[in-house]
Amino acid sequence: MIKLIQIRFIVLISSIALLASCSSNKQENDQVNIIPDSVYLNKGDKLVAHTFDTLRNSLLSAIGQNGLAYAIDFCNEKAYPLTALYQGDSITIRRSSARYRNPKNQPDSLEQATLAGFIVNGPSTKIIRTGNQVHYIKPIIMQAMCLNCHGVPDQNIKPETLQVIHERYPADQAINYAEGDLRGIWHIAFALKR
Ligand code: HEC
Repeated sequence: MIKLIQIRFIVLISSIALLASCSSNKQENDQVNIIPDSVYLNKGDKLVAHTFDTLRNSLLSAIGQNGLAYAIDFCNEKAYPLTALYQGDSITIRRSSARYRNPKNQPDSLEQATLAGFIVNGPSTKIIRTGNQVHYIKPIIMQAMCLNCHGVPDQNIKPETLQVIHERYPADQAINYAEGDLRGIWHIAFALKR
């Protein structure tokens, strides 16, 4: 009996040693892969907060200065360069939506699957790892001020605003949202360095 326990103990010790040596060998190659999700969540949250604040403030001041129809150019994340933040990281940031206004914001397959998951399980921020990228995906929820351009025509969207939207985006689908609705997602892709 004692012998059996001893043997088991030896097997346990040697497998721990084996595991330890295994992970230290891999460590150098996989330095980037072992960065935990929490680090990407944190970076993503900061980038989105920065981009969203800039976007929202620019929208509000553009609306205040020249009205809604003029302000439509300001609901565009591309207008705000992120290069000053996180220089050295190779990232892309975009928004997409199941009911999009700009066809460039049509969801890709990963985004589509994530949006479908949000419908079933409710929206929440996610980290998804694919081959050579880490994806940060955060739901975008409609706020009252957004309804000026994404709400119900006539009720929330003034006819003159809708006219400009239609001229610029003839196939617009991004209307009839209500406050609190899931509008779409922020998607930041971090490229893993090899
Ligand atoms: C002044 C009008 C206006 C307001 C206010 C506005 N948007 Fe937009 N929104 C637009 C336009 C125009 C586009 C298309 C931008 C482009 O070409 O990329 C857009 C695009 C988007 C997109 C990208 C997906 C798509 O449909 O192409 C999201 C997400 C979005 N808006 C969310 C919001 C949220 C959230 C708010 C409130 C904080 C908001 N918008 C307020 C006009 C507006």
